[in-house]
Formats: sequence, structure tokens, C-alpha cells
Amino acid sequence: MSRVLTAVAWPYANGPRHIGHVAGFGVPSDVFSRYSRMAGKQVLMVSGTDEHGTPIQVQADREGVTARELADRYNRVIAEDLQGLGLSYDLFTRTTTRNHYAVVQTLFTAMHENGYVVERSQLSAIDPSTGRGLPDRYVEGTCPICSYDGARGDQCDNCGNQLDPQDLINPRSKIDGKPPKFVESAQFFLELPAFAEALGSWLQTRQGWRPNVLKFSENLLHDLKPRAITRDLDWGVPIPLPAWQDRTDKRIYVWFDAVIGYLSASVEWARRTGDADAWRPYWDGSADARYFMGKDNVVFHSVIWPAILLGASGRPAGKPGPLGELSLPTEVVSSEFLTMEGRKFSSSRSVVIYVRDVLERYGADALRYYLSVAGPETSDTDFTWEQFVTRNNTELVAGWGNLVNRSLSLVHKNLGAIPAPGELTGEDHAALAQSKAGFASVGAHLERSQQKAAITEAMRVVGEANKYLSDQAPWKLKDDPRRRDSVLHVALQLVDDAKALLTPFLPESADAVDAMLGGDRPWAGQPELREVEDLDGGPDYPVLMGDYDTAAVWESRPIRVGQPIGPPTPLFKKLDPSVVDEELARLEGETSA
Ligand code: MF3
Ligand code: ZN
Repeated sequence: MSRVLTAVAWPYANGPRHIGHVAGFGVPSDVFSRYSRMAGKQVLMVSGTDEHGTPIQVQADREGVTARELADRYNRVIAEDLQGLGLSYDLFTRTTTRNHYAVVQTLFTAMHENGYVVERSQLSAIDPSTGRGLPDRYVEGTCPICSYDGARGDQCDNCGNQLDPQDLINPRSKIDGKPPKFVESAQFFLELPAFAEALGSWLQTRQGWRPNVLKFSENLLHDLKPRAITRDLDWGVPIPLPAWQDRTDKRIYVWFDAVIGYLSASVEWARRTGDADAWRPYWDGSADARYFMGKDNVVFHSVIWPAILLGASGRPAGKPGPLGELSLPTEVVSSEFLTMEGRKFSSSRSVVIYVRDVLERYGADALRYYLSVAGPETSDTDFTWEQFVTRNNTELVAGWGNLVNRSLSLVHKNLGAIPAPGELTGEDHAALAQSKAGFASVGAHLERSQQKAAITEAMRVVGEANKYLSDQAPWKLKDDPRRRDSVLHVALQLVDDAKALLTPFLPESADAVDAMLGGDRPWAGQPELREVEDLDGGPDYPVLMGDYDTAAVWESRPIRVGQPIGPPTPLFKKLDPSVVDEELARLEGETSA
């Protein structure tokens, strides 16, 4: 497949991003996209901020602003966080664009016409003191499935099941702790049982998923019930049916609109590139469609979103809507949770480490490295500053940084340019061959969403290169300049290979290494924050876009003999161990505040 759709979970526009968020959806999706582009695929990587529903309303109430003001504020903050991390979105937009509203309404209507969205009456929660509707998330109680006591009316975070507020045992309002009143109210429902068979056969043909994600998804199919996809709320996409579209008290449910963002953002991207149909080849079944998220999002991507795609395509019955037949995900790539210093701080006082603080103090690649090599890929994982500092110093600085620094310094001081090699020895050939083989081994891991194994393998290749340099000790070869030049030539080739292997994970430093080796055009592209006009007359907003059609390729390329080499500049900062105490003191301050 020559096209890849990288669909990245949409962060709620309710605050700055912390490192747990980007460990789940951010870095893994970017690593995969960058690798895919280097391997010659045409990649479309889309996402945006998720701006409707209760999570936004709750935070807006807290900050004393309107939902719209809140969304505007954090859309920008989040776009800046993600740009700083170097996430190479082709388009990072938002769910409050007119284009998004139109696409959501188109799909809603198509599903309604095909009979997969139907009106029914449902009990909905009312706050007895105010008489106003209580959003699902405002109702808490005991989970009827796993008995966890902190379950919410939309979902149980303990067992991951989707819930309705009236399913909860001993329901209580989050606002005043009182039991809510339930009254009948008309809503639209997504007829999930109608898709059970199609979803089952789709999941059966999935290959290479992370095993717990596939198992979890299959289990969800055992008990499919119709789900309400509208809410008693005034913030969201209006229901596009005659008797409903002018009502201010009912809106489409935030999750129904958010997942459609993958499609609407693809359409927006196409419209912005000047070819309004350019999104189609990413949605017609010919592309490799990979969705990246944290595990609390799996149900929406392996059940709800596929059901919407099926229903709007006229499957199992009906006819395709105006956007035609739409393809299902190839893979749902889900990460587990990242806790932050969970051993040191009690979990009731949850500790949060913000992306922008880490970026400002330690740089994007230091964080990307840590999250790639020690992130929560297949099990919940605790971030600790101690590990962060150790891995930064012993692996990034002493491993990769040192290889670059030693090799380039030697060449710069002794020769000033890349030397031609003399005759190569068995050791030289072996070193070059194992470095070259890294492209197949690292690539295979990345194809299968094994990013930890991938970066570990890339760093093993770096380790071998360091060993080659130490074993061959070119600094001892003053009397044998021909041999010294061969070793330095081979060493630089190993550096160049490792630079390519590490590019998906560490784009900024890889780009710097490329420039030091004489690269004359950008190696790894970076996202830009652009102010754009809404395509359909809404207010302007910022987006992330970028030119990622850069020099980076996924193969060993011969270095250029004669290329001048200047003095290397350090790639990474060695961190003083005192950083650990400093950072812990900061967290301590925050939790007691
Ligand atoms: N905003 C959701 C969250 O943070 C994720 C939405 S992903 C999408 O959990 F599918 F809706 F796009
Ligand atoms: Zn539960």
C-alpha cells in the first residue's frame, strides 16, 4: 500500500497537554508517520482539538468563561504544545470549523436515512435542585459491570466499558452529591446491534494488532446495545433534521462528532491543498489507516467509529451517503496509561507534568526519546525523573550523542572533510553490513507497532557503531593515515545510517546531524503553526501543517567523499542529577498547593 492515513486521537481543548497524553496518541503516531514517509509512502496525518461536550463545559465553568472561549484558548495552547514536540501533522485543526459541522451532519443524515440512527425516548438525568440536564460525566456511581465505585455516567475508567448514567448503581450528581432524577427525553440512537456481524468479521481479519487491543475490542462486541448519540446540551453540532435543527437544547454527542473529525480533517486538508478530492484515496480502502490513541479511547475506535463508517456507507444495508463508501481502520494502535511519579505521590493527588515545561527545559528529542523507549506501549508505566535523567545521560548523550561527536571531531581535526576509504577489512564490511541491516529490522518493528523494540534496535545499532570506533581506535593510527581514513570513512557512514534510523524518533537532532554531514536541504520536516481562514466563513483559527517532503529516506545512502566537516555541536544536554530533586520539588509544590 502506498498511502498511509495516520489518524491521531483528538485532544480535548480543556487544558495544556501533559506527557501522559502525548505518550498515548502523540509520539507514537508521529514516529509511524515519519517512518512511513521515509519509506516512500504518501502519508496523511490528521487530528485537531476536540471542543464539544461535557469535558469542555466543565472546564469552562471552572474557569468562568464560555465553552467557545475555552475552546479558543486551549486549541491554540495545544497546537503549540504539539508543534513544540515536532508532531508532523499534515493538518491539525479543530471540531468547531464549519467544514467539520457539515461533514458530521452529512454522516448523521446518511445514517438516519439508512435506518441506523433512530429516535427513541430515554431516561436522562436531571439535577433535582436546578432542574437542568445533568451531563453523563456529572453523574457518578458504582459500575454495574465491575463494581468500581468511581464510575462515570459515560464510561467506567476501571473496566473501560461504556455506560449510561441510569446503569450506575447508587448514582449521584458530581455537583452536589445528590441522586439525580431521571426523566424521559427524546434522543437519537446509533443502532449498534445492526453492525455486530460486520464488525465481528472485520476484527477477525485484523493482523498485527497489539494483542490486548484486539482482545479488548473483540470482547466489546459481545454486548452491543443501541447508544444515544444526542444529548441535552446546547454546546455541540446541531441535529440536521427538520424538527430538530433549530432546537438549542439538543446536540449531537461529542464522541459522535469527534471521531468524524478524522474524515472532516481529511476533507479540510484536501480543500486547503487545492484538490478537494485529494482525501478520497485515503478513505477508499486502498490506504493503510492507522489510528493512535490511549486505551480509554479504544471502544470509540474499534466499535463506534467503524459502525458509523459502515452505516454511512450503506452497509450492511442501504445506500452510501454523499461522501461515498468509507473504509474502516486497518489498525487501532492503543497505548496503556502513563502515570507520573506514581510511586512517590499518592494517586489521589494526581501529579501532572506538562509537555511545554519538559520541552522548555530539556528539548523535544529528550522527551521523545524517553517516551519511545520507556513509554506505556503495552502496559501501564510510570514516568520518573530519575529514569528520565539516567536514560538521557547514558543513552542519548553517552550513546548516540557521543558517537556523533567522536566521529565528527576526529574527521574535523584530522582531515576537515569526509575521507575516501582505502581497502576495507572484514571488520569494516561487517560493521557496514550490520548497520545497513538495521533498516529492515527497525522497519519491521515499526510496521507492527512495536516502537519500543524499534528504538531499542536502532540504539543497538548505535552501540555497535560505538564499539567499532573504540575497537578500531583511529586516534592510534597517526602512522597509518590510509587505514585511519578508512576507519573514519566507515564511522561516518555508520553515523549517517544511525541518523536515518533514529529520524522517526528524534527528528530534530537527526536533522542537525544531517546538516553537519553536509546535507544541503532539510532532512526532517517540522510542523508550522499557521493562522488560516475558516473555509466556509467562520472565524479564523490556527492550524498545524507542514512541508514534510524532505530529504529523509529509509535506506543507507553513501556519504559524500570530500564533503567539508566542521566542528560538531553537541546534540543533547547532559543533565545534572540535581535535576531530579528540582523536578520532584516542583511537583511537591504543585500537589500541596
Ligand atoms: N478527546 C478524546 C479524549 O481526549 C479523544 C477523542 S479521539 C476522537 O479522550 F476519536 F474522537 F477523535
Ligand atoms: Zn467498570
